[in-house]
Amino acid sequence: MIDTLVENLNANGGVFITFEGGEGSGKTTQIKALSEALAAAGVDHIMTREPGGCPSAEELRNLILTGAKDRWTDMGELLLYTAARAEHLERVIRPALAAGKVVLCDRFADSTMVYQGISRGLGERTVEQLQTIVIGETAPDATVYFDIAPEIGLARSGGWDNGENRIEQEGLEFHTKVRDGFVALTKKHPERFVTIDASASVEDVFASLVSVLTDYFAFEEVKAA
Ligand code: TMP
Repeated sequence: MIDTLVENLNANGGVFITFEGGEGSGKTTQIKALSEALAAAGVDHIMTREPGGCPSAEELRNLILTGAKDRWTDMGELLLYTAARAEHLERVIRPALAAGKVVLCDRFADSTMVYQGISRGLGERTVEQLQTIVIGETAPDATVYFDIAPEIGLARSGGWDNGENRIEQEGLEFHTKVRDGFVALTKKHPERFVTIDASASVEDVFASLVSVLTDYFAFEEVKAA
């Protein structure tokens, strides 16, 4: 099955795929498995993440995610995530796409819309305007959303009162808004999003991931032609 995906990705070239989900959705494990499979098949790609992905953005990640829950104001947090994105886009993502590589990115602007715009309540318009300025033309070609009930995801990631970063420490109400926000985004942008049930086993989720991407890029190839 991965062979068809490899063919479809190679036919498209310079493809930007983002992966989204709540805490404990298992997306990072899945991206690593996908990256290993693509590497074994010789697909020229990078695996990266947000916030982070280059030294300057990783420094910002450290500032954003560590310390007291109220370390940053909501607006300050939004701007820090967005600053990290500007660094990452300019230094890593755009050069990789320009070189024809497949870019696998663990979280991107949909996380900002959902966590800062919706759950923190800064508003969709504010987040959208800011992201438009920073992202410009570099929008994802496809976004995989790993859907999981927040109760299950938080239990997997160590629990909301035991979370390792400032965001995980938020309560169930916050994380329920995150999930509802992601589901709403998948409905708003059905042409870009594919949804995977992340409550299944790691093997089953991986099989779904390869399958949905294979179908998606078979369609994209037709679209690009
Ligand atoms: P991670 O746990 O997937 O590494 O992501 C770090 C945390 O940052 C996670 O709780 C989601 C959050 N986040 C935002 O709140 N806004 C953003 O724009 C991004 C990229 C992540």
